[in-house]
Amino acid sequence: MLAVLTLLALSSLVASGPPDGRPVLCKRCCDPLEPAEGSGAPPPSAGFSSVPEVRTFINMTILKGDKGERGDRGTPGKSGQEGPSGSRGLVGSKGTKGRAGLPGDPCKVQHAAFSVGRRKSLHSQESYQALVFDTVFVNLDDHFNMFDGKFVCRVPGIYFFNVNIHTWNFKETYLHIMLNDTEQAIVYAQPGDRSIMQSQSLMLQLGLQDEVWIRLYKRLRENAIYSDDVDLYITFNGYLVKGN
Ligand SMILES: *[C@@H]1O[C@H](CO)[C@@H](O)[C@H](O)[C@H]1NC(C)=O
Ligand SMILES: *[C@@H]1O[C@H](CO)[C@@H](O)[C@H](O)[C@H]1NC(C)=O
Repeated sequence: MLAVLTLLALSSLVASGPPDGRPVLCKRCCDPLEPAEGSGAPPPSAGFSSVPEVRTFINMTILKGDKGERGDRGTPGKSGQEGPSGSRGLVGSKGTKGRAGLPGDPCKVQHAAFSVGRRKSLHSQESYQALVFDTVFVNLDDHFNMFDGKFVCRVPGIYFFNVNIHTWNFKETYLHIMLNDTEQAIVYAQPGDRSIMQSQSLMLQLGLQDEVWIRLYKRLRENAIYSDDVDLYITFNGYLVKGN
C-alpha cells in the first residue's frame, strides 16, 4: 500500500510541468540565479562548475548593536611571582661637608663626688640588703641616692670609692662593694673581742647608669657594723678621677 502511494506521488511530479511545455529544471537553493533576460542560455563551454559561487556574507557591522555601558571593575588578580633581584646600583655622589659644631667650653670640667655617713648601728638581715646612710657630707648633683644607698653614675669615667666601718665585738663583719649586682671587693672581719675600724678602697671604670653600693647579708653568724650618736664610724665615699 505504501509503495503504491509513493509511486503515485512520483509519477505526478514527473507529469507536472509549466503550461508552456518547457522542461522544469530542478534548482537547489544555492544554484545560480536565472540568467539575465536576453542573455539566453549559458554558453555551451561554461559547465555547471564554472558558474560563480555566491557566498552568504554577513556584514558584522550591521549586526552589531551599540556599544554597551562599561561594566564594573573586576577584583584584582593574584600578585605574580617575585622577579629576580636587580643588580647593585652605582655608588652615589659624595655628600656635602657638615657644618662645624658650636665651640666647646674649655672651662667646663665634669665632676662627680659624694661622701656620706651613718650614725646608727646595723645588724644585717638574712637577705641581701643595701647599706643606707643618714648623713651627707657631699653629694654633688645628687648622684648618690640617699633613699636606696646607691651611687648612680651620670658622668662615665674612672671613679675612686672607699668604705670605712667599725666592727662589733663578737660579731662578724661581712660587706661587699657592689657594681650593679656584682661584688667588686669585700670588707671582712672575723668575730673578736676587740672592735676595730676596717676599710676597703678601689677604682672602677663606670658607664652611664652603673650603680655602686654596699651590700650586707647574714650568713651563719650575726653580721653587724657599729656606730653611735656620739661619733660617726661609718662612711662611704666616691669621686670621679677622670671622665671618659
Ligand atoms: C558593512 O556595513 C557598514 C554599515 O552599513 C558599511 O559601512 C560597510 O562598508 C559594510 N562592509 C562591507 C564589507 O560591506
Ligand atoms: C648596670 O645597670 C644599669 C641599669 O640597669 C645598666 O644601664 C648598666 O649597663 C649596668 N652596667 C653593667 C656594667 O652591667
